[in-house]
Amino acid sequence: MSNYKFETSVVHAGEDPDPYTGAVIPPIYLTSTYSQSLPGIHKGYEYSRVSNPTRDILEKKLAVLEEGRFAKVFASGMSAISALAFTLKSGDRIVVSRTVYGGTYRFFSHLMVKMGIEVDYADVTYLEQVEKKLGDNTRFLFIETPANPSMEISDIKMLSKLAKSRGVKLVVDNTFLSPYLQQPLKLGADVVIHSTTKYINGHSDSLGGVVVTNDKQLAEELAFVQKTQGAVLSPFEAFLILRGVKTLAIRMEKQQQNAQKIAVYLYNHPKVEKVLYPGLETHPGFEIHKKQARGPGAMISFDLGNYENVKKFLSSLSIITLAESLGGIETLISHPFTMTHASMDENLKRELGITEGLLRISVGIENVNDLLDELDRALSRV
Ligand SMILES: Cc1ncc(COP(=O)(O)O)c(C=O)c1O
Repeated sequence: MSNYKFETSVVHAGEDPDPYTGAVIPPIYLTSTYSQSLPGIHKGYEYSRVSNPTRDILEKKLAVLEEGRFAKVFASGMSAISALAFTLKSGDRIVVSRTVYGGTYRFFSHLMVKMGIEVDYADVTYLEQVEKKLGDNTRFLFIETPANPSMEISDIKMLSKLAKSRGVKLVVDNTFLSPYLQQPLKLGADVVIHSTTKYINGHSDSLGGVVVTNDKQLAEELAFVQKTQGAVLSPFEAFLILRGVKTLAIRMEKQQQNAQKIAVYLYNHPKVEKVLYPGLETHPGFEIHKKQARGPGAMISFDLGNYENVKKFLSSLSIITLAESLGGIETLISHPFTMTHASMDENLKRELGITEGLLRISVGIENVNDLLDELDRALSRV
């Protein structure tokens, strides 16, 4: 826990000048191993799969930012999710929001099922439906809010109360908002996950993932998974994320400001059939989102009706780049149906509104007028 405001913690938490040199910026400890004076007698480090000083600093910082006690970082968002899954055993059950990142869906529905874990999906906007699915052997309820790419909002406080009453841990993938805008542990969640690849690093130049919790036993299990399964974050990536996260607050402010203007523009455009953004009062989760988050974020989904329109639109873009991923300083656009959610069952995609006409935009820090001009040009070709 930190006594400082977020903008201060994001710069300073977990970091002290290097004890050997006074270096203000934490060094990258590019070492796989550490000397021992006698077996087991060392300075706290044995082997970098187990722990590494650069990685430790990042873990301390990310725990502070999510106001949690423990954070464990991994090589990607997916390896953070799979580390959590490694704490389960065959016969355990997990209930997952039906609208999550396509890779998360692929992991649960293909790999976890093979490990003998029972996986069930629920519409987590309906508490009664969730309640019915939480059986005796359920260990985790896994949600994203806002969800990728439906921007569906679920009520973290209500779901955490329900999960607690059944002895289930609520896990929130907070990737879309970052801890600057939403801190699920403070709302009652037991575990927070991030793909640090996105807003936390913020510069589209590293992969990473983190699990944050206040639960000491779970943190110990995750440390055991970290050293045993070994999908650890490299010291170099830890350095990049430490460097990137320092500007999280100001990046997020600017990206969100730009996104709000773009969402309103798209909403009023006759060629756009639907805009999904929690900053629009028309968004189904607007009121719940306002209660639990400090802002709507910078992710917008919008529907152009069909794939022909999508192709015309995308081929007219220049600075807005068609690419997987999100949360960087540059504006990226993706086509969830064929890209991020390609592996999801087609019927489920349609049920969730992930149609051939849907696009998802991750708004960057560019001058918003350049972005609006480009969107305007591209929409005129539709
Ligand atoms: C919400 C969400 N969670 C998890 C992931 C997986 O993260 P990574 O790509 O770092 O493995 C992604 C990736 O897009 C995501 O959007």
